[in-house]
Amino acid sequence: MPNAYISGTGYYVPPRRVTNDELVTEYRIDTSNEWIVQRTGIEERRFADAGVSCSDLALKASEMAIRNAGIDKKAIEMIIFATLSPDQHFPGSGCFLQEKLGLCDGDSATFVPALDIRNQCSGFLYGLATADSMIKSGAVKHVLLVGAEVHSAAIDLTTRGRNVSTLFGDGAGVVVVSATDADRGVRRWNLGADGRNADKLHMRIWDISKRPYIPLDESGNGCMLPEMMYPNMNGKAVFKHAVERMISVLLKTLGDVNQSLNDVDLFLFHQANLRINQFIQQQLGVPEEKFFHNIQRYGNTTAGTIPILLAEAEENGRLKPGMKVAIVVFGSGFTWGCALIDW
Ligand code: ACO
Repeated sequence: MPNAYISGTGYYVPPRRVTNDELVTEYRIDTSNEWIVQRTGIEERRFADAGVSCSDLALKASEMAIRNAGIDKKAIEMIIFATLSPDQHFPGSGCFLQEKLGLCDGDSATFVPALDIRNQCSGFLYGLATADSMIKSGAVKHVLLVGAEVHSAAIDLTTRGRNVSTLFGDGAGVVVVSATDADRGVRRWNLGADGRNADKLHMRIWDISKRPYIPLDESGNGCMLPEMMYPNMNGKAVFKHAVERMISVLLKTLGDVNQSLNDVDLFLFHQANLRINQFIQQQLGVPEEKFFHNIQRYGNTTAGTIPILLAEAEENGRLKPGMKVAIVVFGSGFTWGCALIDW
């Protein structure tokens, strides 16, 4: 059975920086740099321009990942696309990306399968587990695994929505997951979900049990109330469950392979809130230097956080071949997961 390893990483964030101060001056949100930094560590985020979708961000990140993997794009045998802000409700963004990558072009069109994953902040890790399983089954050799979001279009950038909208940013991270006979790669993963907490962090848009599924005005046009249109979050519940689940899934996954926290060289945690990650780091007694964060610059890019972290850590030399990496995520659902990788 082959092993599955990450052969190439890439990322792309839109050029437009939005600082915490600009949320006050440009968007007139009643917040402050001090409030946001103190509670979340976020200093700025990137916002895509109108007209840019998450498959556009993913395209640029994919080109970098494919280049770094040293393969031709035609060698990709499957696309897995994790996002909660897809280009459209359907079809999935994986299909849009496939076409933009030129995989439907000409005589050498590959028409590879494209699978969308809807597991929010845990989406990339659910995708990694899927890619790992597909590769170990022998079905495919190279999977393009994407985590990409355009949040800025669909968050309430007013004071009404400040508890959520100040946290999120846009960006894409992509990895190529490849088969290898070498003794390296994804060693173990665990995933989990607790649907009892679905309402603690959700964005409804519609209620498909209703007729009509979106309220209509007198002219028969769809109209949507803010509580349907934008994400809702119970921040304190998210914080508490994130700490508990991230610690327990990390310790379980290490235990599964008879390893300890000391064996890990680099911890890459979902970038939801720097304070969540620092709290866990202190609870576990792990040295701060073993963590790499970028939430200060990008905010929470949901499915994008882990692949962007991987690509940046590799680019700046924090992540080197031979290192043992622990990835831990938590998100809406609630969902969570951990993967151990020998890089
Ligand atoms: N600026 C200023 N004031 C704000 C802001 C803001 N951006 N957001 C909320 N407030 C106000 C609230 O209106 C409230 O005011 P009130 O007391 O007058 O009613 C007050 O601050 C406290 O609000 P809480 O929501 O109770 O604030 P809390 O101390 O819990 O901090 C926070 C909020 C930072 C969101 C925190 O709960 C948290 O980090 N939770 C984790 C959530 C998270 O990380 N979500 C990311 C998405 S999920 C994921 O990726 C896993």
